[in-house]
Amino acid sequence: MVKISVRTPLVELDGDEMTRVIWQMIKEKLILPHLDVQLEYYDLGMANRDATDDFVTVQSAEAIKRHGVGVKCATITPNADRVVEYKLKKQWDSPNGTIRAMLDGTVFRKPIVVSVVPPMVRSWKKPITIARHAYGDIYKNSELAVPGPGRAEIVFTGADGAEQRKTIAEFTGAGVIQGVHNTDPSIRSFARACLAYAISEKTEIWFGAKDTISKTYHARFRDIFAEEAAARTEDLKRAGVSYFYSLIDDVVARVMRHEGGILWACMNYDGDVMSDMLASGFGSLGLMTSVLVSPDGKFEYEAAHGTVQRHYYKHLKGETTSTNSVASIFAWTGAIAKRGELDGTPDVVRFANMLEEATLECVEGGIMTGDIARIASIDVREPATTEGFIDAVATKLTAKLS
Ligand SMILES: NC(=O)c1ccc[n+]([C@@H]2O[C@H](COP(=O)([O-])OP(=O)(O)OC[C@H]3O[C@@H](n4cnc5c(N)ncnc54)[C@H](O)[C@@H]3O)[C@@H](O)[C@H]2O)c1
Repeated sequence: MVKISVRTPLVELDGDEMTRVIWQMIKEKLILPHLDVQLEYYDLGMANRDATDDFVTVQSAEAIKRHGVGVKCATITPNADRVVEYKLKKQWDSPNGTIRAMLDGTVFRKPIVVSVVPPMVRSWKKPITIARHAYGDIYKNSELAVPGPGRAEIVFTGADGAEQRKTIAEFTGAGVIQGVHNTDPSIRSFARACLAYAISEKTEIWFGAKDTISKTYHARFRDIFAEEAAARTEDLKRAGVSYFYSLIDDVVARVMRHEGGILWACMNYDGDVMSDMLASGFGSLGLMTSVLVSPDGKFEYEAAHGTVQRHYYKHLKGETTSTNSVASIFAWTGAIAKRGELDGTPDVVRFANMLEEATLECVEGGIMTGDIARIASIDVREPATTEGFIDAVATKLTAKLS
């Protein structure tokens, strides 16, 4: 069979544990037999990040900046236990955090909707994509435990020394206080990324905040979003989509009744909480994809889930596993399709679409892993093994391509 040629190198970021195992299988069985592609490889596995003092993560982000598209396997974000387990020099930062900061990117999480795995919410028919503003608010807070009576104040000292001061509370006893912030450029860059995504994906964009209560802080988010949406009125119109703002509680209520097919832009905390609600509502973490988009149009695709540590330990013991590879396969197809779109090579895009079809046809035909077999609307006698599922997709894909 003649291989399909990919014009520009694709940046590949390898990762850890069970996802590293399925990553190799996907590459060997689904991608390389059909695509003639130059993969610029960076090993973000825990051992190599430690050996390179995490420099490999920086190099991989630079490569994405250079080539425009990357595909990433899930990676361990080390905690104290991992430092011991992997004998690490230190508790390295999250690679996703480093790459996101270097690309100034926004993360969009989109569920893969499969007819035989109906969402928990009856009205959801199409994917609901969620974008989280991953800067500031409570995630960069300053907190104090108040020991007893006294006054808490919020103070801003300008570069010229001018002061602004407001009383937060007059404490009559012990309590707590918290200071949070955000910046106009960060909010604006988030709004721009969301609008760019909505326009390119031709999807409605919703944003919610609590501006009735937070008349300065949340209202600033509302106003910046409104300005940016106004600046792209014509593009939104051309894409046939619109921007909608409402109170966050109203947005949550509407999301529960809506059929989907929307982008939900969220402030940091809302996105943190709601993305997990959506992931479980749509079925399984194994069916959730994630793409990091920078304001200047660089893309990094990955599965939203982690390294599936529990399955990896089973795998190491030689036991059979049933790890869902659908979101990892879709990370590859997302990246390949984007590469094809940017290169103007429709046959590359077509290949990505075919691989997605082959994957979904397997699931819809009853070949699926345990995590979704449990919640499927059809009877699945025997969940597929990790490798068995990928082999089934490979067979279907080859049949489609020949
Ligand atoms: N994007 C990333 O790179 C990323 C994201 C989250 C967690 N992590 C890392 O992954 C490691 C494990 O974290 P975790 O256990 O919190 O998250 P996880 O996503 O690996 O697992 C959470 C739960 O979902 C199940 N699950 C997840 N994906 C699955 C799949 N494809 N098939 C079947 N079941 C699946 C797991 O068995 C587990 O019960 C940690 O070291 C963490 O730092 C990485």
